[in-house]
Amino acid sequence: MRITIHYLLSVTALAFYGEKVCPLLESLGVFDWSIRLTTVFATLFLIRPLLIKWLVLKSDWQRQAQNQFFIEWSLFLMAAGILGYYNSYENYFDLVSGMKVFLGCATFGFFAAADMALERQKIISETPNLVEWKAYSARVVFPITAKLTSIAVFSLLFMSLILFLVFLKDLYWLLDLDQEGFESGKDKFLRELLFVGTVILGELINLIYSFCRNLKQFFEKQNSSMEAVASGNLDQLVHITSQDEFAVMGSHTNHMIELLKERNRQLEKTRQEIIQRLGRAAEYRDNETGMHVVRMSHFSEALAKKANLSKEQCDLILQASPMHDVGKIGIPDNVLLKPGKLEGEEWTKMQTHVEVGASILSGSDSKLMQLAEEIAATHHEKYDGTGYPNGLKGEEISIEGRIVPICDVFDALTSVRPYKKAWTVEDAIELIKKEKGKHFDPDLVDNFVSILPEILEIRERYSENKSVA
Ligand SMILES: [Fe+2]
Repeated sequence: MRITIHYLLSVTALAFYGEKVCPLLESLGVFDWSIRLTTVFATLFLIRPLLIKWLVLKSDWQRQAQNQFFIEWSLFLMAAGILGYYNSYENYFDLVSGMKVFLGCATFGFFAAADMALERQKIISETPNLVEWKAYSARVVFPITAKLTSIAVFSLLFMSLILFLVFLKDLYWLLDLDQEGFESGKDKFLRELLFVGTVILGELINLIYSFCRNLKQFFEKQNSSMEAVASGNLDQLVHITSQDEFAVMGSHTNHMIELLKERNRQLEKTRQEIIQRLGRAAEYRDNETGMHVVRMSHFSEALAKKANLSKEQCDLILQASPMHDVGKIGIPDNVLLKPGKLEGEEWTKMQTHVEVGASILSGSDSKLMQLAEEIAATHHEKYDGTGYPNGLKGEEISIEGRIVPICDVFDALTSVRPYKKAWTVEDAIELIKKEKGKHFDPDLVDNFVSILPEILEIRERYSENKSVA
């Protein structure tokens, strides 16, 4: 559509110029010039799509805009050559008239070619699948300043040359006229100046608009990524689709985002490690390796996934559940390490690990710590309301507070402890099933049983004789 307008405008303006504005083309006849122009431009317009397809669309994206520029301009220069040949050899145009026509075509061609090259750049920018930015090392091949300077210099050059030719030819022509002819000739001369000036100015304004439109697009892409980063989203990279300063700026921005992501990953890893090690430290007091919290946290994550909790919630459960028994730190050795059954005061003391744990983890703004506090406070509640410390029932206990006990008990039963042998998986599952609706949430028990192969795989991965970093 855009190129059609350029062709129509060029043919109309050149026809109008030749027949109505410039008296030097009158020797060609009223309609001959228009017919000749239309034939040449229409022929080139028809072969143009083939050239664009072969030489632009099939080329590498980095070369598409410049290839488009050269093809579009070459077509107009070809038109200038053909018209120049006919005008000179068939209609005996003088050199200046021939040059005016040639320059006119070249000027229209330059503006059309630059506009279409900018349009191509815009299309590339709007086609994300066309460019694989990661495989592309951004570099400045054609700087923005050079583009702007080229447009300004060529526009001024064409305008100056055309005006120079108008002055050169028409002034001599005016000087040869008598007084009466001079008055009407002067009007024609001014009209020609006005026409040439208006057309070039219009083309220049259009080109500046296209240039600024692309600039705006580049700024928007850059700003959009920076805004995303500022709001904590590190997944929106700048899409690099040029070979100028913006490409380098975008490449640096992407590198910065990748570094931030890596830093975040390291922070997250460190945070998880600290949390897990805190949980393991508490477990070490009554468990030889502390691997129990590693296994039960991964069981809990798997069960949360099966219960259709969000990914964020599953991640939080994985990270928070290792701290469920952190309150054991506050239990005296004679109670915590007693091989036999706890009785009376001892049992009451042991139960306080729930409040101690919740108290250690309380008062944080972090979602993770808040969930850890919640799990520590509720992991000994029972579905039928017979648990402690608050005797919560059913869904009064948070989903996390219902998930963790199943995983905690399963791993405790199937592990060796100083005071007991490891149960078989079948026996442990049997007990968990028996506790459906009593100790445990019945739906979650069903979910747990249905993912047993995955649970056993996790159990194997984090067995006692393996350690985690
Ligand atoms: Fe506990």
